Amino acid sequence: MIDIEVQRGDITKLDVDAIVNAANERMLGGGGVDGAIHRAAGPELLAACRVFPETKPGVRCPTGAARVTSGFRLPARYVIHTVGPVWNGGIHSERDLLASCYRQSLWLAEAVGAASIAFPAISCGIYGFPIVEAAEISVRTIRLAAESHTAIRSAVLVAFDDEVFDAWTEAAR
Ligand code: AR6
Repeated sequence: MIDIEVQRGDITKLDVDAIVNAANERMLGGGGVDGAIHRAAGPELLAACRVFPETKPGVRCPTGAARVTSGFRLPARYVIHTVGPVWNGGIHSERDLLASCYRQSLWLAEAVGAASIAFPAISCGIYGFPIVEAAEISVRTIRLAAESHTAIRSAVLVAFDDEVFDAWTEAAR
């Protein structure tokens, strides 16, 4: 049984085994939580991301997939980089792709031996995914995936703002 906890704050400060980054397909940093994680982890993180081969030009991690690196200067031992969908009306598999981000992140976390993981609200910033729906998808997917990833004991949902905090609190009830 996984313990899901909703917290307010900055994911880069969390002392968990793995934190998830809401990255982009290039995996070379960006704004939002991606920028914050790269700043806190140090330049070694960018160097580690560059090592992933491109699956096609400019794509180190396709949307819905995940990749794992060390956490370098972060308290977390690992960073799991996943690429959420850009919201485009909801008719381009955005919901399935968002669920896939949570599933694949949990799968990778288990593969590296993590027992605790923290997620930001993937796709809920620049990528424009409706927050209430994203919160429901994330909680549902984590609960379902946790039935087969029993090594992961705790998932922290880290909200940077009130709207995300409220949506996750409601979804996790
Ligand atoms: N800790 C926790 N959550 C945070 C933090 C933080 N330090 N900083 C921001 N958030 P976004 P996306 C929240 O835009 O929508 C980047 O440029 C933020 O308030 O970071 O998946 C990437 O390189 C929001 O609720 O990610 C991609 O190009 C949530 O994290 C693109 O943005 C996600 O917002 C990805 O867009």
